[in-house]
Amino acid sequence: MAILKLSINLRLIIATAILSVNGLSSDSVSVDEDSNNDSAINYRLPDNVVPVHYNIKLIPYIEANNFNFEGESSVDIIIRHATQNLSLHVFELTIDKTVTVLFDDNGIHVYTPATYNYDNITQILVLNFNNKLLPGNYILKLRFVGILRNDLKGFFILSYINEEGNNMWSVATHFEPIYARRTFPCWDEPALKATFDISIKHPRNYTALPNMPTREQSDDGNKDGMIWTHFDTTPIISTYLVAFSVVANYIRVPVDDTTNIWCRSKLVPHTKFVQEVVQKSKELLTEYTSIYKMPKMDLVALPQFIHSSISWGLIIFGETSLAYNESFNTIFTKLNVARTTVHEMAHQWFSNVVTPLWWPHVWLSEGFATFCEIYILNQIFEDWRRMEYFVVQQKILHVDIDMNINPITLEVNRPKEIESLFFHSNYNKASAILRMLQHIITDEIFEKGLIKYLHTQIFTQFNSTTSDSLWNAFQVMLDKSGVPHNTYRLKEVMDTWIKQSDFPVVYMTRNNDTNEIILTQEHFLPKNKKKNVSNNKWWIPLTFATQTNPDFSNTLPTHWLKPQDQNITINGIDPNDWIIVNLQQIGYYRVNYDSSNWQKIVSYLKSGNYMKIHVLNRAQIIDDAYYFMMLNKHDIMMFLNIISYLSQETDFIPWYSMLEVLKLTEDIYKVPENEFLKSYIIKILDALIKNVGYEEDPGEDDLTKFTRIEALKWACTLGHSECKKMATVKLNEFLADPKTYK
Ligand SMILES: *[C@@H]1O[C@H](CO)[C@@H](O)[C@H](O)[C@H]1NC(C)=O
Ligand SMILES: *[C@@H]1O[C@H](CO)[C@@H](O)[C@H](O)[C@H]1NC(C)=O
Ligand SMILES: *[C@@H]1O[C@H](CO)[C@@H](O)[C@H](O)[C@H]1NC(C)=O
Ligand SMILES: *[C@@H]1O[C@H](CO)[C@@H](O)[C@H](O)[C@H]1NC(C)=O
Ligand SMILES: *[C@@H]1O[C@H](CO)[C@@H](O)[C@H](O)[C@H]1NC(C)=O
Ligand SMILES: *[C@@H]1O[C@H](CO)[C@@H](O)[C@H](O)[C@H]1NC(C)=O
Ligand SMILES: *[C@@H]1O[C@H](CO)[C@@H](O)[C@H](O)[C@H]1NC(C)=O
Ligand SMILES: *[C@@H]1O[C@H](CO)[C@@H](O)[C@H](O)[C@H]1NC(C)=O
Ligand SMILES: *[C@@H]1O[C@H](CO)[C@@H](O)[C@H](O)[C@H]1NC(C)=O
Ligand SMILES: [Zn+2]
Repeated sequence: MAILKLSINLRLIIATAILSVNGLSSDSVSVDEDSNNDSAINYRLPDNVVPVHYNIKLIPYIEANNFNFEGESSVDIIIRHATQNLSLHVFELTIDKTVTVLFDDNGIHVYTPATYNYDNITQILVLNFNNKLLPGNYILKLRFVGILRNDLKGFFILSYINEEGNNMWSVATHFEPIYARRTFPCWDEPALKATFDISIKHPRNYTALPNMPTREQSDDGNKDGMIWTHFDTTPIISTYLVAFSVVANYIRVPVDDTTNIWCRSKLVPHTKFVQEVVQKSKELLTEYTSIYKMPKMDLVALPQFIHSSISWGLIIFGETSLAYNESFNTIFTKLNVARTTVHEMAHQWFSNVVTPLWWPHVWLSEGFATFCEIYILNQIFEDWRRMEYFVVQQKILHVDIDMNINPITLEVNRPKEIESLFFHSNYNKASAILRMLQHIITDEIFEKGLIKYLHTQIFTQFNSTTSDSLWNAFQVMLDKSGVPHNTYRLKEVMDTWIKQSDFPVVYMTRNNDTNEIILTQEHFLPKNKKKNVSNNKWWIPLTFATQTNPDFSNTLPTHWLKPQDQNITINGIDPNDWIIVNLQQIGYYRVNYDSSNWQKIVSYLKSGNYMKIHVLNRAQIIDDAYYFMMLNKHDIMMFLNIISYLSQETDFIPWYSMLEVLKLTEDIYKVPENEFLKSYIIKILDALIKNVGYEEDPGEDDLTKFTRIEALKWACTLGHSECKKMATVKLNEFLADPKTYK
């Protein structure tokens, strides 16, 4: 009886928790919530004009306290079809209409707009002319004033107090995806690439850091203490890749001949770690992709900045992603510095070299940057086990459902929709899908396909890219290889993963008469999901291991569950064997089994042989079992039985899955009736605590440090008595002598 009551409580409480998560998410992903019917509005620029080269001069009034900047642009454009108007993007800029002019390229004809129409929904400004403008080359000159923003979107200003107690300013840019138009009028779509000449006027005692090397500095003779810095012409790039920053009293920390870190002097002693990460990731990414295109690379760390903005040859990021010193910082800071740095470095390839044709393809930048972050960190810091850790840490299958994540390549047009694509969970899903692809076609073909994809972009003058260009590159390399692939075309397979929302669950049953294993797929949709799509089907790569053949290493799919298949059958498995599907959680799906197979898995986990099941599958079993229990697919005893095996588990990866479950069910343990459950969990946790201990050992690996922090947090939260005692001791030590006991 007690157990029954408990399981009802448990479901009720968790169901409430999940509902509140869903409530929250509806604000952040607003794409299908909005009921305005605006399909009549055209958010795209017409194709009658293309920009070729921008010449931009900007004067930010950094110390003047008016938070303004002035700008002037001269853009070489091509008019492709005769027209009487030009459309371009502008947002919150005031244009000085008295000086706008359009010249044709021989300078004979000069036109001025008769009227201006601005649409603040599409953020498009239309210049209407009285004359017909014939096809040809023109130059458009504009002058404008804008605000140095404090919302970090566009051209922004930040203030901080330096060591001497003085108020200091920095200005910098963050343009991705649609904020360049807040700094200069432009054709702000990623495929409308051009070259850029940027010049910035700033006080002499500031340093301007741009995309490109500095060409020259000049004084305009005004004796106002100001100086112009002119930068080299960029290659052909998208507007969102333009960037610059102006800082005072910054120190240059060289990493190699063309790569520098810029930061405040007080941070310089704590940059050794980031230098190592920059240098190694540059090396490994260059080797992996066989390209390096940047004439120079600057990484600028700003105080009070929490984002990081990507651009050609310049990475602007926060000081918290730069400084790490083991005497003061935790292992979390170290991980954060490493992750941000490698992610932003990877964008120099994925975003700079290959740019999305239009925003639905931006997953090709973000997905790959996240994937490379994991893949490269896995090589630099082997003992972090980033690849495995990514699988359990991102809980992406939970997030995908709970946060109603949209399909990876959602069609978007409105400015708000475009911004919502830059939501971290989308990148994580995309990189999980890329990891799956890597195992479908093998690591070797994956790398060859990537190189082909990147080189094709360079060959076509940095043409913009779509998901199909990627599938094509992989397909070509796959066709040349010995990797089996007759049953599928990559595009067809991958489209089921990137164009549909959610993911499948594979369900396994055994026919007792014929001893066949039967696998079917279903669209995984908990009842609380609002969307009304229940019959998505996927191309599902299948791999499995059995008790008599527990080989979890070969992740090349042996079977496919196709969208048109009702089921597939596998023969010849010993009826006493368990079967575990989806080796190493490579496939982006959950697996549920009939209860007899679950029972077999449970007994095996509780035996001394549990280690023969791959750590990632141990982690998956815990996570899947939890989720299916929550959906009433099997009872709580099964779940409690599974997790009891953890009392012998020493690996952190399956434990991480369990700690995530604790996080999700935290409220349950506060209810007195659930005391039994709480002591049950404390007992299992005790084994882990004994294993990691309470004291850091300087020689141990980072993952152990990390495990200790997480394990002790939960042990103390749940009321593990020894843990609470130790916490009191440590707190008293710290209060008595904070210097020694950090
Ligand atoms: C929205 O408007 C378009 C044309 O303006 C129309 O074709 C479409 O049916 C409308 N959709 C809804 C949901 O009202
Ligand atoms: C601009 O001019 C073209 C033809 O020259 C016309 O079709 C179009 O409607 C005009 N657009 C606007 C916004 O006035
Ligand atoms: C656009 O302008 C109108 C009128 O000035 C204003 O009411 C509205 O809030 C603006 N919309 C946006 C998105 O800025
Ligand atoms: C830069 O120099 C000006 C005087 O030319 C001075 O007023 C200002 O405080 C200086 N700024 C910095 C950040 O050193
Ligand atoms: C950590 O900080 C100390 C004191 O500022 C400095 O001497 C040391 O070099 C730093 N270590 C690293 C690895 O940055
Ligand atoms: C650039 O890509 C577009 C669309 O993918 C294609 O039509 C065009 O031919 C490409 N241009 C070059 C120079 O390859
Ligand atoms: C197969 O046998 C197991 C016990 O051996 C039983 O639990 C299960 O229900 C049977 N399955 C079917 C489909 O009859
Ligand atoms: C939901 O889907 C069912 C069947 O697929 C369909 O009959 C029903 O009209 C849909 N409801 C809505 C609100 O779209
Ligand atoms: C498997 O699919 C076939 C058709 O392809 C169907 O006849 C059979 O009943 C299915 N078996 C199960 C157990 O669903
Ligand atoms: Zn990114």
